[in-house]
Parts: sequence; structure tokens; C-alpha cells
Amino acid sequence: MNTALLNSPAATLETELLVLTAADTQTDTGPDAKPRPALLTADAALAAAAAAVLTSGEFKGGANETVLLHAPNGIKAKRLLIVGLGKTDKLTPQSIRNAAGTAVRFAKPRGIRSLAFALPESPALNPAAATQAATEGAFIGDFDPDTYRSDRKDQSIQSFTLLAPETAELKAAHQAGFILGESQNFTRSLVNEPGNKLTPTEMGRRAQVMAHEVGLHCEVHSTEKIQQLKMGAFWSVSQGSEEPPALIVLRYEPANAPKDGPVLGLVGKGITFDTGGISIKPSDNMEKMKYDMAGGAAMIGAMRAIALLKPNMRVLAVVCAAENMPDGKAQKPGDVQTAMPFKDGEPGKTIEIINTDAEGRLVLADGLTYARQLGATHLVDAATLTGACVVALGMVTAGAFSNDDPTIGKFLNAASTSGEKFWRLPLGEEYAEQIKSDIADIKNTGGRWGGAITAAEFLKNFVGETPWIHLDIAGLAWVEDSRPYIAKGPSGVAVRSLVEWVKGY
Ligand code: BES
Ligand code: MN
Ligand code: ZN
Repeated sequence: MNTALLNSPAATLETELLVLTAADTQTDTGPDAKPRPALLTADAALAAAAAAVLTSGEFKGGANETVLLHAPNGIKAKRLLIVGLGKTDKLTPQSIRNAAGTAVRFAKPRGIRSLAFALPESPALNPAAATQAATEGAFIGDFDPDTYRSDRKDQSIQSFTLLAPETAELKAAHQAGFILGESQNFTRSLVNEPGNKLTPTEMGRRAQVMAHEVGLHCEVHSTEKIQQLKMGAFWSVSQGSEEPPALIVLRYEPANAPKDGPVLGLVGKGITFDTGGISIKPSDNMEKMKYDMAGGAAMIGAMRAIALLKPNMRVLAVVCAAENMPDGKAQKPGDVQTAMPFKDGEPGKTIEIINTDAEGRLVLADGLTYARQLGATHLVDAATLTGACVVALGMVTAGAFSNDDPTIGKFLNAASTSGEKFWRLPLGEEYAEQIKSDIADIKNTGGRWGGAITAAEFLKNFVGETPWIHLDIAGLAWVEDSRPYIAKGPSGVAVRSLVEWVKGY
């Protein structure tokens, strides 16, 4: 999809599809309450073109509601689409992001290949934030997951024009939206791949190709280096698979970054398929476990955006990719593994394996240690880590944990700017009790209760004193039902929030 910012009056623009937005201003809730949609434009010609449908009572302006007019009167566009933004007093950049996605997803199956979206005008909206959000939303809407259908019709949009003033500020916002939308889609394209196509090796190769394109430093290691680093926890997960693991390291090091400035370390769970291992999962829904690398893919997508947006601080990513399989060589419940030591010569923490299906925390343990060893001063990890987090927060909000209030404060602000929902859950000594082992330092499961928290407590053992955030995205990484603005399938959650968080340093 191409995109451009264009300072042109919408009414005189020749386009296949002109998109306007309208908010729902109805405050009366009585049975006779009439819809009161209000266009978010001051242009009289546009208002006249839309007047009949807006007064018809057929369209309310509800969130992502649409109405289409052909050959609209008095304007040059072939078609006029009005997209609802929801209640007028609840307008946010997220409403705009979704409306732009809705417009794109409206156009795609109708064979419309180019559209122009008029930036909503409202004192309640910051124009730069709205510009970025609209651009992101258009890219997010353009993604469809049917890549392996032999009758796949390429319905992708060729051009998305955002009608807004071409100021330096809005140009930068448009550019950022384009980079973030594309990077989120890059993550989604990885998450969408089935386990037989996207092996750990292939995940590493794709990271490498991307890194080459955007100018990131990238190393992909396998068994030998993992063993040399004494990553016993990471290795234990991959030992039951024919597919070698991949330790993917991406580095962004701008020349002018202050030498003693922060180094942000992004650590991702990259389980390219999670059968559960010897503690094998039930076969119902097991196919979904191809997306168990979504945390790692989010880190790779975030690094892509960072390389292109060029913030002035160092960022590195460590993605631990492996396949969790049962096999003659697979690890067993009761096995004891030794995690990577932080300093060479020091002992690594010992872990009693209770359940081989609690594998994400094992690969992350070594990933976090390695990121610290590479110099990370701040850590964030993302993982489809626990079903318990989905039980707690549903498929609406992702879990966030931290050992440092200011660090997670920054992250939650960034997430709200990005329109992604994260909710902080607690940590605490009492939870840490649940993962004490009789034979080793810790065990890899903490029993039935508070499963998302005991998983986070497990990870906390590997971050030392480093400020750290853990994101459990198990419930958000896959969109179970399509919405007007996003296809069913991989969501690319966390990419935008992570990049926004990085920009805050
Ligand atoms: N990858 C799963 C978690 C998961 C569940 C992700 C649902 C996405 C949707 C993880 O590796 C896992 O199996 N976790 C176990 C941990 C348990 C054995 C302590 C779980 O949540 O059941
Ligand atoms: Mn598992
Ligand atoms: Zn898993």
C-alpha cells in the first residue's frame, strides 16, 4: 500500500472513494431519540453532499458504522463513504485509527483500490496524533491472513491518501504512522506463518533479511552458541525438537547516542510451535500454538520501526526461538536445568521442570540474562506466556508486570498513546513462595492460582536489579473474530506501544 499526505480540499478531489468521518452527538436516550450524526469537517460542499443521508435517520455515527453514497452531489469523488467515530465526547486517536481501518476494510472486498481519507477536524483531537493514528489504522486494515489460499485475490489497497495540511509536524506524524503500521504488519506476517514454514531457523532468517533492509545489526546463533553461553533453560526447551533453536540478536546503535545513556533491551518469546512437550497439550485448538512466537515477532517488528524512526538511544533485542516438542530426547517433568549465569564462572540458577508446557519462561530466563550481559539497562519482555492471563483479563487487555514503578508508568502511558490496552498486575513475595522447589532454586510452575503472576515471578529471578517490564500477550496476539477495522488472525499487539515507550527515553 502506498500512502501520501495531501493538502487538498476534499470536495474537489477526484478519487474512487472519499472517506469522511462523523461522530454520534445524540444525548437523548429516550425511545424517540433520533440519530444525530455530525460530520467532522467544516467544508460546506461536503456537508451538502452528506446532508440527505445524515438527516435520514439511517446512520448514527456509531463507532465503525458505515454508509456509502455513489455519485455524491456537488463533489468530485466517485463515491463517498462516511465512517462513524462513536460518541462525540469520547473521540480519541484510537477512534480515528479504527475508522481508517474500517474504511480500508470496506474498500478491499469491493474492488476499490485507492481511497482518500479526510483527517477529522475537531478541537478534541490533536491533528498530529490523529494523522499518525489514521495512517496506522489504514495499514492495519489492509492486512489479510489468507496467504496460502491458492485462489487468494490480492485485494490490497494500492493507495491511501490522507487529506490534511502538509505541515512539517503532520508529515512527520504521517511518516511515523506509515512506519509503525508496516512494522506491525511485518510482525503479523511472521505470527501468521504456520509452524512448518516458520521454524526457529526461518524466523532468524526473516529477522536477518529485515535487518539488512533497514540497517540493523543482526546475529542469529544456534545450538553451539546457546550451549557455549550455558543457556541451559533455553536449550532444554529445544532439545526435544529436530529443528535447531535460534538465538536472534538485533542491535540498533545510533552514532550520536550518549555513551552512558540507557540501553533498552527487548526480549521476546519465540516458540514457533508449542505442543507442550512431554506435558503435551490437548489436540483441541493446538493449531493455535503456531502463534506462540508472537512476543518475539513483536520485538522484531518493533526493532524494524526503531531502525526507521531513528530515536537517539541504543536498543537491542534478544529473541529466543525454539520449537517445544515431545521426543525421545525431550526434557521430562522432574528434570533439573541450569539457567545461564549472569557472569562467567558464577553458577546459574537451577530450575526444576514440573511441566514442560511452561516453556516460555524457560527461554525468556536465558534471554533476559543475555540481554543484561549485552548491556541492557532497562528490560522489557513480551510473551504469549500464560492461559491464566487470558482467564484474568480476557482477550481485551494484556497483562503487564514490573519491578519498577517509573519504568512501567512510562510504558502504560506509551500504551495509552498507542491505543493498546495493558493492565498492571501485582508481583510479591507470597507469589514467589509458590515457585520454590524442594530440589532446585525454583520450579517452573506455581500451581493453579495466580498463574500469570507466578510466571512473572519466575522471570523476575533473571533480571537482577535491572528495571524490567513483562508483557503477557497470550490473550491479545490473535484476533479470534474479525472486526470492521482488523482481520481475524495475528494482531501484532505491543509493537506500537514498545516503540512509543522507547521514544520516551
Ligand atoms: N503458550 C502457552 C500459553 C498460551 C495459552 C498462549 C493460550 C496463548 C494462548 C504457554 O506456553 C503455556 O502452555 N502455559 C501454560 C503454563 C502452565 C503449564 C503453568 C498454561 O498457561 O497453561
Ligand atoms: Mn506451553
Ligand atoms: Zn508456550
